[in-house]
Amino acid sequence: MTPPAFLIDEPRPVWAKSALGNHEVDRDRKPVIKMIRILPDADNEKGAITMRIAVAGRGHVGGGLGDLWARAGHEISRLGREGGDVSAAEVVLLAVPGGSVADAVSKLSGLPGKMVIDATNRFGVEAPGDFTSNAEYVKSVTGGPTAKSFNLNFALLYGRLGAGRSKPSNIWCGDEDARRVVEQLIRDAGYEPVYAGGLENAAALEHAMEILGAVRAQSGPFVYRISQPEDL
Ligand SMILES: NC(=O)c1ccc[n+]([C@@H]2O[C@H](COP(=O)([O-])OP(=O)(O)OC[C@H]3O[C@@H](n4cnc5c(N)ncnc54)[C@H](OP(=O)(O)O)[C@@H]3O)[C@@H](O)[C@H]2O)c1
Repeated sequence: MTPPAFLIDEPRPVWAKSALGNHEVDRDRKPVIKMIRILPDADNEKGAITMRIAVAGRGHVGGGLGDLWARAGHEISRLGREGGDVSAAEVVLLAVPGGSVADAVSKLSGLPGKMVIDATNRFGVEAPGDFTSNAEYVKSVTGGPTAKSFNLNFALLYGRLGAGRSKPSNIWCGDEDARRVVEQLIRDAGYEPVYAGGLENAAALEHAMEILGAVRAQSGPFVYRISQPEDL
């Protein structure tokens, strides 16, 4: 049973009990989490919260994850290449072509301070500016908790994730204060999260698609599982 959420619509300093993790809202470090759900401990323990998610990109990844998360009870707003306002969202998924990240981000208003999950891959394109990854670029714009996830999972298989004996893995990396939310959204999509460290590892995850793409070229899209031998 999910207890009713208490919504606070005003920006304010927030600690410990936010669904978004621990944050101090501070004038100098771009604020701002404008909408916070504070849930009773019991509910937080289970991680069973619903979120407002803005999905930028309506393609295979954005459209597909939007559908999976809507089915899991989350509230989804879907934005195309024209962009839009993400102020009301608690989490933003970035699912646009890897070379269009700067353009896509520039068309989103209300982004400062937001938690962003960057699902992009870079095939033959560099990250914007001097950044080594798209995800670090995104973080430089938002100042909010940022994660790289879903870039190593093939969207074509979203509809078959429950078909196996165990859940496929989703390797992600990013900020600790994004962890609770990102790992819930990974689970709600049908994967098991595998944490690969901080956002400084995002470039490695973006490059990892090169080898997964090479395997795909031989065998077609696949899922993977990271596990101890006895747990397979
Ligand atoms: N497909 C996969 O299995 C997969 C898996 C992991 C990661 N990825 C990565 O995820 C990202 C999205 O992949 P996808 O397969 O979903 O691509 P997609 O099906 O081609 O969809 C891309 C979406 O981005 C929008 N878009 C294009 N240019 C844009 C811009 N400048 N600003 C904002 N939005 C823009 C497109 O809008 P329009 O509809 O108007 O064209 C479209 O909705 C890519 O970076 C890809 O490398 C893909």
